[in-house]
Amino acid sequence: MKIAVLREASTGESRVAATPETVAKLIGLGAEIAIEAGAGLGSRISDQNFAAAGASLGSRVEAIDNADIILCVRRPSAASLAGARSGALLIGALDAFGHEAEIAAFAASGLTAISMEFMPRITRAQVMDILSSQANLSGYQAVIEAAALFERAMPMMMTAAGTVRPAKVFVMGAGVAGLQAIATARRLGAVVSATDVRAAAGEQVESLGAKFVMTDALKDASGTGGYARELTLTEQAAQAELVAGHIAKQDIVITTALIPGRPAPKLVTAAMIEAMTPGAIVVDLAAERGGNVELTRADEIVEHNGVKIVGYTNMASRIPTTASQLYARNLLAFIETLVDTASKSLAITWDDELVKATVLTRDGAIVHPNFTSTATLPPKNVPLEPPPRKVADAPKGDA
Ligand code: NAI
Repeated sequence: MKIAVLREASTGESRVAATPETVAKLIGLGAEIAIEAGAGLGSRISDQNFAAAGASLGSRVEAIDNADIILCVRRPSAASLAGARSGALLIGALDAFGHEAEIAAFAASGLTAISMEFMPRITRAQVMDILSSQANLSGYQAVIEAAALFERAMPMMMTAAGTVRPAKVFVMGAGVAGLQAIATARRLGAVVSATDVRAAAGEQVESLGAKFVMTDALKDASGTGGYARELTLTEQAAQAELVAGHIAKQDIVITTALIPGRPAPKLVTAAMIEAMTPGAIVVDLAAERGGNVELTRADEIVEHNGVKIVGYTNMASRIPTTASQLYARNLLAFIETLVDTASKSLAITWDDELVKATVLTRDGAIVHPNFTSTATLPPKNVPLEPPPRKVADAPKGDA
C-alpha cells in the first residue's frame, strides 16, 4: 500500500496533509509513504523531518506513481495528477460545491475522489471532522489577528498609572469557530458578548462566560442537523436593529455566520462600521463565502473611517503548523478505517456510512448523491445537503 502526499499548489495555502507523526503511524499500518519534496515547508516540516519519519521524497510524478492513496489539503487539478493509477483514492478538502467540472475530471481520470468536508458529524467520525478542527483554529486565530492589529490592550490592567478598561469583543455566529473565538478572547481578558440565530447556542455562549445577545423578535432559527436556516426579511430586520445598537459600542467584532449551501448572510453594514470608534477591528471569517460584512474584501485589510476590516479567506492557513497537525490526524483516523490491519492492505467497505458520505467519484463516474440526483451534474449554486449532525455531540468550544 503506497500513500502519496502532495505539495499544495494553491496561493496562500501553507498546510500539508501529513506530518512526521502521521507518517510514522501510516507506516505502522503497513504503508509506504512518498512525499512530494517541499510539501511540509509552509508548516515548518522539512523534507529531512519527513525522511526521518520513514517517508521517501521526490517529484509529484514520482510520489503519485502507483500510489493507492493521494493525500492533499486543497483540490489539485486532475491534470496535475496525470500518471496516478486508475482507482487511486484522492483524499482531501475537495470543495466540490460549484466545482462539479473539476470533480467530473477526477471521474474521467479514474480517480476515487473523497471529500473530507462531507464526513458525517456523528460520534464515530468526530476525530475525522476537518471542518471542526480547522474552524476551531480559525476562531482562535481570528482573535489573535484582531489583538495584533488592535492598538490597545485586551485585558483590564490595574497599574500605578491608573486602570485600563478591558476590550469589548462581540462574536457573531457561535458555531465551532465562534465558540473558540469567545474562549480565546476571554483568555486574553476581554469582555465578550456573542449572538447566534440558534437558541441552543445561548447556553454554550454563556457556559464560556460571555453574554448572549439576542432579540426577542428572533426566537430560534435552527435549521436541519444543528445548522442555522436563512432568516426571513422580518427576522433580518430585527437582527439588524439589535446588532446596530450593540456593535457601535464594541472594540473588536469577529463574524463567523454561515448557512449551509448559501452565501454568507450580510450582518454588518457600512453604516454600522461608521458608528464604531476609530481603532476598532472587524475580522470577517465568512470572507471566503462572500463575507458577513458589507465592506469586506477577500484577502485584504480594508480601513474605513479608522475601522480595520480583515477579510482573510483562509484563516487556518495562517496557523499552519497546528492546522496541519490536526488536519493530518483527521486524515489518519479516516485512513485507519480503510485498512485491514492483519493483511496491512486497503480493505474499503464501500457501504460504510463514512465512505458513502464522502466518496464523490468511483469507477469513472460521479457517485455522490449530492451530484447524481439528476441525470446531469447539478448547476452551480444549487445548495448541497450539509452533513447531518447530532447536536448532542456538539463540541463545547473550549475543548
Ligand atoms: P456553521 O459554520 O455552519 O455556521 C457558523 C454559525 O453561524 C452557526 O452557529 C450558525 O447558527 C450561525 N449563524 C448563521 N446565520 C446567522 C446569523 N444570521 N446571525 C448570527 N449567526 C448566524 O456552523 P458550525 O460551526 O459548523 O456549527 C453549527 C452547529 O453544529 C453547532 O451547534 C455546533 O456545535 C454543531 N457541531 C456538531 C458537531 C458534531 O460532531 N456533532 C461537530 C461540529 C459542530
